[in-house]
Amino acid sequence: MAMSLDGYIARADGNLDWLMKQKTEGEDHGYDTFMASVDGLIMGRGSFEKVLTFDDWPYQKPVVVMSQTLTDTDIPDGLRNKVALSTLEPGELMHELGRKGWQRAYVDGGKIIQSFLRAGLISDITITHIPILIGEGLPFFGPLDRDVDLEHLETRSFASGLVSSQYRTRQDGKPTQ
Ligand SMILES: NC(=O)c1ccc[n+]([C@@H]2O[C@H](COP(=O)([O-])OP(=O)(O)OC[C@H]3O[C@@H](n4cnc5c(N)ncnc54)[C@H](OP(=O)(O)O)[C@@H]3O)[C@@H](O)[C@H]2O)c1
Repeated sequence: MAMSLDGYIARADGNLDWLMKQKTEGEDHGYDTFMASVDGLIMGRGSFEKVLTFDDWPYQKPVVVMSQTLTDTDIPDGLRNKVALSTLEPGELMHELGRKGWQRAYVDGGKIIQSFLRAGLISDITITHIPILIGEGLPFFGPLDRDVDLEHLETRSFASGLVSSQYRTRQDGKPTQ
């Protein structure tokens, strides 16, 4: 996740202009390596609706969109074989995807990540701090019913000013396997 230094993933209206204007040409932030490590993506309706505004669909891997309100008619024709909707809760969804052979998912979207964190379903977090303050917006993190202990794995900084840190969640004080 890309996060402004003051903790936001998008402006309040979902605008990502502050992120898109970053000059990062030629830098390898590890995105391709990370994408190769997952079986697919799980995203919330908010993130899906934003990606639909992009010129091109950016994902090669299957995408599951979590929503209680979208229906199949909200999926553009060209994406029907790439995108599936789910109304399941996070634990049920991971169980179902596990039965289909998924071992690791890229979970995307602020509210969705918060929901997966509360359910103890996040093992790795990569936060890329963007060198900008935007004052207000959609927060990456939110309320929890318990602390989530994290092990810091690595931090890399880039000439553009991006600083990317990887964390692994700890269960019962121990890093997850
Ligand atoms: N900076 C970054 O790296 C980054 C990454 C991803 C997204 N974004 C931006 O973040 C914005 C979207 O984030 P967001 O936090 O507003 O939305 P989100 O997490 O993408 O989607 C939230 C929606 O998902 C649905 N949902 C279904 N099950 C849920 C559950 N168990 N928990 C929570 N939500 C559930 C709900 O919609 P229904 O009412 O349809 O059920 C909910 O409103 C977009 O502007 C996107 O561009 C930024």
